[in-house]
Amino acid sequence: MSDSKPSLDTMVSLAKRRGFVWPASEIYGGLAGFYDYGPYGAQMARNIKDAWWDAFVRSVPNIHGLDSAIIQNPKLWEASGHVASFNDPMVECSNCRARFRQDQIDASQPCENCQAKGSLGGAKTFNMMFKTSVGPVEGDDSTAYLRPETAGAIFADFDLVQATTRSKIPFGIAQIGRAFRNEISPREFLFRLREFEQMEFEYFVRPEHAEQELSNTKQICWDWLKTIGLKEENLSWYQHGEDERAHYAADSWDINYKYPFGERELWGIANRTDFDLKAHSAASGKELSYFDSETNTHFVPYVIEPSLGVDRLFLALLHSAYHEEEVKGEKRVVLKLAPGISPVDVAVLPLSNKPELIKLSHEVYGKVTAETDFTVEYDETQSIGKRYRRQDEIGTPKCVTIDFESLKDKAVTVRDRDSMEQQRVPIDKLAEKLG
Ligand code: GAP
Repeated sequence: MSDSKPSLDTMVSLAKRRGFVWPASEIYGGLAGFYDYGPYGAQMARNIKDAWWDAFVRSVPNIHGLDSAIIQNPKLWEASGHVASFNDPMVECSNCRARFRQDQIDASQPCENCQAKGSLGGAKTFNMMFKTSVGPVEGDDSTAYLRPETAGAIFADFDLVQATTRSKIPFGIAQIGRAFRNEISPREFLFRLREFEQMEFEYFVRPEHAEQELSNTKQICWDWLKTIGLKEENLSWYQHGEDERAHYAADSWDINYKYPFGERELWGIANRTDFDLKAHSAASGKELSYFDSETNTHFVPYVIEPSLGVDRLFLALLHSAYHEEEVKGEKRVVLKLAPGISPVDVAVLPLSNKPELIKLSHEVYGKVTAETDFTVEYDETQSIGKRYRRQDEIGTPKCVTIDFESLKDKAVTVRDRDSMEQQRVPIDKLAEKLG
């Protein structure tokens, strides 16, 4: 088994060929920074989000879910500082007008796009929020923004969530949803997108506990990444310097993943202090604080925020799961995705398309679907070898094959993705054996 990691091109090609991800509106030439998740990608992304929600919301008594609108009152983004400060320094080529993030190029070199020399000027700031217009008349009064992070509404809804759940500090509010940033130069496949998805929670704590809570949260996040299939050797910590932190953060850490293009941010974990609650209180006139019944006083909690991109995690999981090996002189590509993350759990495959085998295979498919929570795929096209190869490449842990013997002995063959070992299992015991 080769442990050599795939290049980005290999991953882009596999993702498209096998129905995971491809450029949005590809028939029109695509649109930089936007991707569509195909059938297997959509299921895998859903599995990732379910795993996160189970670990950080459903099984945690003091973290509550939220599903807020993508477009909020624009005053929210003025108060949060995003209208004034959500900027990236940008450099423009005076020859072809291409724009680049200042930190991604060397301005003394020729333009990457048109190769003109000395054409890259000084940096200008560029606000990354997408503007839109609400209502039938366009104008300053109707300007609104697509949210640049899911966190904004969590702060604005702090009081409503606290009151309706009767939560005591510490407690958290979590959300999964789309975020939009007009990135100057989207690149590296799913790494830097203009439309992406975040899984975030804001954990409201006593200010004096913030440092300890940040440290606990960092450990919990690191451990969770291992449970869903990332290897510790591909992860590392990076602490932001003072000049790198977002305008709201007092301390900020990234869990970096070793992507094919370098070690880069996967998960940001920050101490956001009381910046947001105070800013929204001041701008809205609604006091956002916590009443401490022990001391009979109000205080503004600090916030610990782990913010993880679904797309960056998806990319890291694909990369980490990719293996190549040689079997009987042929290359076998396998995605060794963790059970529960792979898009398909079990594939049901009749050995041939003889009517009696198809009939029994439909019965087996129905039985596994009814008796387990697995995502089951039924496939009767092509040779069995090609079907195994296809299931290996989408990461299906178990294939169930129905052959002519099955008609007599009422048993099927279960093939394990990683070891390729095959085992005969009675149909009656199949659900139990697969579970
Ligand atoms: N609420 C805090 C926040 O949004 P961030 O570091 O800007 O902080 C958090 O973003 C996470 O969102 C990142 O760690 C990354 O996983 C993901 N993310 C940010 N920008 C992204 C982009 N352009 N494309 C894909 N994912 C992105």
